[in-house]
Amino acid sequence: MSGHGNPIPMTASKSGGLKGTAHIPGDKSISHRSLILGALAVGETRITGLLEGEDVLDTARAMRAFGADITDHGDGKWSVHGVGVGGFAEPEAVIDCGNSGTGVRLIMGAMATSPITTTFTGDASLRSRPMGRITDPVSLFGARSYGRTGGRLPMTIVGADNPIPVHYRVPMPSAQVKSAVLLAGLNAPGQTVVIEQEATRDHTERMLTGFGAELNVENTKDGRVITLTGQPELRPQTITVPRDPSSAAFPVCAALIVEGSDILVPNIGLNPTRAGLFTTLRDMGADLTYENEREEGGEPTADLRVKFSPNMKGIEVPPGRAASMIDEYPILSVVASFAEGTTTMKGVKELRVKESDRIDAMARGLEACGVKIEEDEDMMIVHGMGVGGVPGGVTCESRMDHRIAMSFMCLGMATQKPVSIDDGGPIATSFPIFEPLMTELGAQIIRTTP
Ligand code: S3P
Repeated sequence: MSGHGNPIPMTASKSGGLKGTAHIPGDKSISHRSLILGALAVGETRITGLLEGEDVLDTARAMRAFGADITDHGDGKWSVHGVGVGGFAEPEAVIDCGNSGTGVRLIMGAMATSPITTTFTGDASLRSRPMGRITDPVSLFGARSYGRTGGRLPMTIVGADNPIPVHYRVPMPSAQVKSAVLLAGLNAPGQTVVIEQEATRDHTERMLTGFGAELNVENTKDGRVITLTGQPELRPQTITVPRDPSSAAFPVCAALIVEGSDILVPNIGLNPTRAGLFTTLRDMGADLTYENEREEGGEPTADLRVKFSPNMKGIEVPPGRAASMIDEYPILSVVASFAEGTTTMKGVKELRVKESDRIDAMARGLEACGVKIEEDEDMMIVHGMGVGGVPGGVTCESRMDHRIAMSFMCLGMATQKPVSIDDGGPIATSFPIFEPLMTELGAQIIRTTP
């Protein structure tokens, strides 16, 4: 829901070695998709390990408003009685997706080819984010949209009465846009084709296939071509949501920079479209190993063993890797601050339109902590100060962005003086147990009075 109540200022201070096992909550991307595809199947989908963060709970509320019957059985177990492709009812009230770009964009796609009208809104962060990237392709199916200037929320979408399938080349690397077009294509007769230049996370494709849709993926010189046959009957599934590598990134990176750390992070999905951060950290010389490598639910999975790594070196992160670690650049910029030499991140302009402008948010906060940063529209360079070299001692803005808030908290565990944030409330959108989990490992994080 919009807003997070009163701000929750927090402070992280130099921590003794992090030790123990970090059990990470379910994957946010897969949790959203489980609820939405469950709502579009006929019959009961059972989900275990659902992420019960605010973003996903907003998607569950939205799916109920479209007519799905959703039950929370406790302990991460949920069931969804779906209404079938084309079966969405018209919601009686405005759909509030809170802070979640994934939630609102996927749901817009999913309803755009049904003859219903829906108005969407979200919190101040979501209302500032571009939705034209969804309304452009859904208009090709025949949907109409009426939003604020610049394609911002609140926005009303009038779904297409007689949708036509589309052929769409996604203009930016975005799994949200790709997924919205595929979900819209579900209720269009015939074949919808989506082409992406670079591979982005492929959970929608994997799950659509699992739910019984006919979907074909071909890697061509033009890019990744995905062809979906519309109007399938989706079969309900039993889904075990893997643990989120994007959340695992925070304890992993904290352990690398906090002296004396040695932690185990079990059962982390290493889908190649998501695991770019771990490859990058290893390239920098991080003591990060994969134990017990295996396949779980069709996804490569491992337990991560992470130890304090005093000799990491800055690198140039290959731009072709950006899509596979797009949510991890904020925490990578923290690790880079403690490496020797410069870390260059190019091809990252999508960071400017996330929950906040993540280049600006990290650059300003790191600079305030004493780190030299260079940036342009599509790039950020961090001049590393080596282990123990970052002064800290300031309050950074979290800008309604969970990943910015958690990145600065991890930073403060290794800086000379404590680092504070103005508001840790947004952390609950994706990683509601961040504070107790990190504290249990030995991190010094406290809530402070404003
Ligand atoms: C997501 C896709 C990414 C990512 C977001 C989750 C998804 O966004 O940043 O946190 O679940 O599809 P873009 O597709 O806009 O890059």
